[in-house]
Amino acid sequence: MYRYPAVSVALLLFLNLVHGVEEKGNFSLVLGNCSLALARDMVYHEHIHKNFVLLVERNATSSWYGDQRIYCLKALNENKESEGGIAFIKEGGIGHNFVTIEMHSKRGNKMDYDVQIYGK
Ligand SMILES: *[C@@H]1O[C@H](CO)[C@@H](O)[C@H](O)[C@H]1NC(C)=O
Ligand SMILES: *[C@@H]1O[C@H](CO)[C@@H](O)[C@H](O)[C@H]1NC(C)=O
Ligand SMILES: *[C@@H]1O[C@H](CO)[C@@H](O)[C@H](O)[C@H]1NC(C)=O
Repeated sequence: MYRYPAVSVALLLFLNLVHGVEEKGNFSLVLGNCSLALARDMVYHEHIHKNFVLLVERNATSSWYGDQRIYCLKALNENKESEGGIAFIKEGGIGHNFVTIEMHSKRGNKMDYDVQIYGK
């Protein structure tokens, strides 16, 4: 491998294409005190849908900024586990009055996330 860098790179690209890149993040996010979340405290609700594109990882962000402090935050993946996808907090979150959630589909798969933010 060491003597054939071009071959190694091609192999890595191929493996990347087949398996997708390992990334930090969770299939779904449920953070904070969600068992106590009240419907009237929901400050933001968004459904994110992106169609699949062959071999492409679809990405999206969802942001909220307001007066309330976030105490529960959900980004629920509505895909099957096998269809994959990840969500992670980019900035803010629990205890803050703002949050940016980033979501990625699995390569070649659609994305469906239900984002709910509760604050008071
Ligand atoms: C992601 O999942 C792991 C394993 O279930 C868990 O330990 C971790 O707290 C989760 N992270 C977030 C941000 O939800
Ligand atoms: C969740 O709410 C309970 C009751 O108000 C409180 O005791 C607990 O500390 C809270 N947990 C977090 C993580 O905010
Ligand atoms: C989505 O994010 C990944 C990882 O950051 C990146 O490799 C990929 O190119 C992005 N997809 C699009 C369509 O921009």
